[in-house]
Amino acid sequence: MACCVQPTAWRLAWPLMELEFDQFDTRKYPILPARDGYREWESTYEQTVLDEMDLDLLGRLTTVPWGEARQAIDLGCGTGRTGAWLKRSGVSEIDGIDITPEMLEHAQAKGIYRTLTIGNVAETGMGDASYDLAIASLVDEHLADIAPLYSEASRVMRSGGHFVIVGFHPYFIMATGMPTHFHRESGEPVAIETHVHLFSDHFAAASHAGLTLIEMDENVIDDDWIAKKPHWEKHRGRLISFVFVWRKTRG
Ligand SMILES: C[S@@+](CC[C@H](N)C(=O)[O-])C[C@H]1O[C@@H](n2cnc3c(N)ncnc32)[C@H](O)[C@@H]1O
Repeated sequence: MACCVQPTAWRLAWPLMELEFDQFDTRKYPILPARDGYREWESTYEQTVLDEMDLDLLGRLTTVPWGEARQAIDLGCGTGRTGAWLKRSGVSEIDGIDITPEMLEHAQAKGIYRTLTIGNVAETGMGDASYDLAIASLVDEHLADIAPLYSEASRVMRSGGHFVIVGFHPYFIMATGMPTHFHRESGEPVAIETHVHLFSDHFAAASHAGLTLIEMDENVIDDDWIAKKPHWEKHRGRLISFVFVWRKTRG
């Protein structure tokens, strides 16, 4: 269910509360750093990530003038799923950055990005105030600290620009103990470094970076999910993903 937020007062929880994933981990899969994990997952990634996770949430947003965004940066662009959605939605020029070269090669083949750069979302090297729109989809759970992501998104955005962040819901990670993971060809499950960031952590990091929340939404495991993943019946009704839209109002 969507809601638009006009904050009248807020409390800054700083520094952020960093919860260790280990205490929730029920799977005990071997854990790889993001770059190693996505290098292996790249060839099957797009067949395994459901649009219900992220693209459906983007499609429901009402506050982002996608067609007016001249320049956008796709932070953790991966294989270009997010960029392809942005292009279809009218965004003119999109730069992508990602830490995994193999994911970027996949994105390159889509032919939709103005530039693609191997790099860290926390330190993109892009100029100040270069973009109308920044987006980070399904990336934040791989970052030990989300504050640098918010600071960097804010730095590279023009005043009044929007930062859209879509994520794996902390509730789902905590309730199920399931990390982001994939299966090797052999069938072996492998986790990718996963961190839990509470909504209060997002709010504190964004506020610190001069960003104001203007919209949020969440997805639960529903009939559409279960039609595609019948063995997830046990997760029915659980929150699986979220989206926040922040506007740059300071700095
Ligand atoms: C789940 S994929 C998301 C890709 C794309 N945004 C999508 O929604 O399909 C996560 C991506 O984040 C990238 N990533 C993880 N940590 C990163 C970091 N610190 N800097 C840049 N990219 C990172 C990974 O390489 C991977 O391509």
